[in-house]
This record gives sequence, C-alpha cells and structure tokens, in this order.
Amino acid sequence: MSVAKRDLEERKVTTHRLIEMKQRGEKISVLTAYDYSMAKIIDEAGMDVILVGDSASNVMAGNTTTLPITLDQMIYHGKSVMKAVKRALVVVDLPFGTYQGNSKEALSSAVRVMKETHAECVKMEGGAEIRESVERILSAGIPVMGHLGLTPQSINKFGTYTVRAREESEAAKLISDAHLLEDIGCSAIVIEKIPAALAARIASELAIPAIGIGAGNGVDGQVLVMHDMLGITEGFSPRFLRRYANLKEMITSAVQTYIEDVKRQDFPNEKEQY
Ligand code: KIV
Repeated sequence: MSVAKRDLEERKVTTHRLIEMKQRGEKISVLTAYDYSMAKIIDEAGMDVILVGDSASNVMAGNTTTLPITLDQMIYHGKSVMKAVKRALVVVDLPFGTYQGNSKEALSSAVRVMKETHAECVKMEGGAEIRESVERILSAGIPVMGHLGLTPQSINKFGTYTVRAREESEAAKLISDAHLLEDIGCSAIVIEKIPAALAARIASELAIPAIGIGAGNGVDGQVLVMHDMLGITEGFSPRFLRRYANLKEMITSAVQTYIEDVKRQDFPNEKEQY
C-alpha cells in the first residue's frame, strides 16, 4: 500500500469526513463498543464510527431496556472507549431522561459527555419533539447524530419492537423529522427498523449520511450492536441481524477447557510456573 493511501485510510474520521464519504458513495461502517479492549480491536480493524450506544444498558448491565442507564454510566463507557480509539469517530448516546423536554439540561448532559469522555459527537433519539434540545446542543458546537424510526428509549410508548413507519402518517413524520434534523445542523442520522424503500428514500433526499439498522441496503452505512454481530447475545434474532462469529460458543468452550485443566491439575504445567 502506498504511503499516501495508508495516510488517507488512517486519517481520523470526523463528522465532515462522513459527509465526504456519502458524497463519493463510500458506505460508512458503524459498530457499538463500550470498553477499552473491544474498542481497540474494532478501531484497529478499521471501523469508521464507534457508537457508545445506550444498548450498554442491555448488553453490559443486563437490563431489559435502554431506559435505566445513567449519564454517569454512559460517561464511564465513553471514557473507556476513547482511551483506545485512534481513528474512528466516537459517538456517545445521551441516555433516556437527560435531554428530552429541557434544552438546558440537554446541553449540560452533552457538555458533560464531551468534557469528560473527549468523544466527538452525541446521539439523540427523536425528531421535532426534541428540536429545542438538539438546537441548543448544536449551538454549543457539539455535533449531533439523530436517531429516528424505532427509538428504543420510547419502547414504553410503542409497546413493541416491531418495524416502524409502515403506516403512511408515521412514514410522513419520519421523512419530515429527517429533513428537520438535517436543516437544524445534525451531522448524520441513524434510522432503525423501518421499511427499506422508505429508508432509501430518506437517504437519497438528505445530504447528511443516513445510517441504517434494519433499514435495508439503500442507506449510507450500517450499524450493528457488537454483542449481536459477534454472537455473544442469544435469543435475539431479528431478520436484519447477520452474525459474523459465534463467540458465545468459542468462549464457552475455552472456559470449559480451562475448568477441566484446573480440575485435573493439567494447568499450570512446569513451563507455566516460576
Ligand atoms: O444504543 C445503540 O446501540 C444504538 C444502535 C442500535 C443504533 O442506538
């Protein structure tokens, strides 16, 4: 690989670069991470964006929804990830209850994330209903990634994790919210679990990247939850999820072998002691 090409590939990803990637038709890869060790592997593998998602509430803390995770906990995860990442853009989710309905509080939540984690962007769920909060955060120079469609922080309002915006009225609101988020200055949006045709239409109408999860292939990039795509979680198999590894099986086998080796005094052997 030429030095120029390597430099280009290793260059830090910024929100501006995401828009350039969209302009040249290069798809954007996004994966979640919540801790130093995994973030280091994912960044070194070449991921464009690492999302410190509030899915940490599910996969790290064992909650059934994303609602319980706190700002302090998100900041802890954000800090750990930021210590590892050199190239990827790092986006941290603002958790439930820290930005809805009160733009002053929203700004102070976003400022804490930026100051304490050194991440480069925050993500927020919702459209017109959180406009004031998004605008206030943007006015402080903090990049915002929007999140529309299935927004897990509103699960108690939806009552189900099924595909969103199949109805015309919900699709129309989604399109209008996507344009609103672009117009007020968001750097990108995530669109979750909506029909592929609708997602493709939104991506084609926006100048900012639309990153999909369960939103088909006509968008500007894809995001998955790391534990799902690596096969660590089980019992969660939506149609959109492709598993790239079966780590649960690999980890179980390694742990069981270790247990057996300890029990039969095979570990440690002579070379593994002082
Ligand atoms: O929290 C998260 O992991 C997310 C992704 C599913 C987009 O918001």
